[in-house]
Amino acid sequence: SISPADAAKRAAAALALESVEGGMRLGIGTGSTAVWLVRLLAERISATGLDVVCVPTSEATAALARELGVPLATLDELGALDLAIDGADEFDPRLDLIKGGGGAHFREKIVAAAAARFIVIADEGKRVPRLGAFPLPVEVVRFGWPATEAAIRRALEGLDLGGAPIRLRERDGAPALTDEGNYILDLALGAIPDAPALARRLDSITGVVEHGLFIGMADCVALGRADGTAGMLR
Ligand code: A5P
Repeated sequence: SISPADAAKRAAAALALESVEGGMRLGIGTGSTAVWLVRLLAERISATGLDVVCVPTSEATAALARELGVPLATLDELGALDLAIDGADEFDPRLDLIKGGGGAHFREKIVAAAAARFIVIADEGKRVPRLGAFPLPVEVVRFGWPATEAAIRRALEGLDLGGAPIRLRERDGAPALTDEGNYILDLALGAIPDAPALARRLDSITGVVEHGLFIGMADCVALGRADGTAGMLR
């Protein structure tokens, strides 16, 4: 038997998988909900011989997919994708997202942007009226990162978000490195008044590689519930 939290994640992943058809080039996400996606996909491949090829959004997802026999390719090889399916840390009523809790949002955004459709898999705990309670991850180049942090602070001041704590993400007592070898700053914003405006400001800062705001990218959210049911939000 599985926990209610896992039941919700599995139900979300199962609903999203209904959109997967033979011959598809598929982007597969990162995180605990995406783990269910990869598991269920592997089951379907071995049970039905479903013919898909997948681009993983992280080394962690690549390792799991390889272990379970899910066929992988690189985005370089495929160029474009039919569908991307990935988790999120928060989604709002417009289906804008915060991602990057797992530190993979840079590759995740490239994969989602390369896909004709992007389905988010989430549970009720991710649904918020306004983004920002989850600290916003911003991937920055290591070179001169304090200067980049200062530029981010100035941008936040212009958006009524001045004074928000910014932390350099650490792992085992050292700065955490992304799969691309960069650092992550986590911005504890509390509530973001205008997420598209913040995304544009962050996009324009030199040294910022990519932030975790996904604006207007998700086509729908497969929302799983603890009772094992799921529904599609558009
Ligand atoms: C990874 O970088 C994130 O964008 C994940 O998609 C996010 O953290 C969701 O993970 P869970 O499914 O574990 O909540």
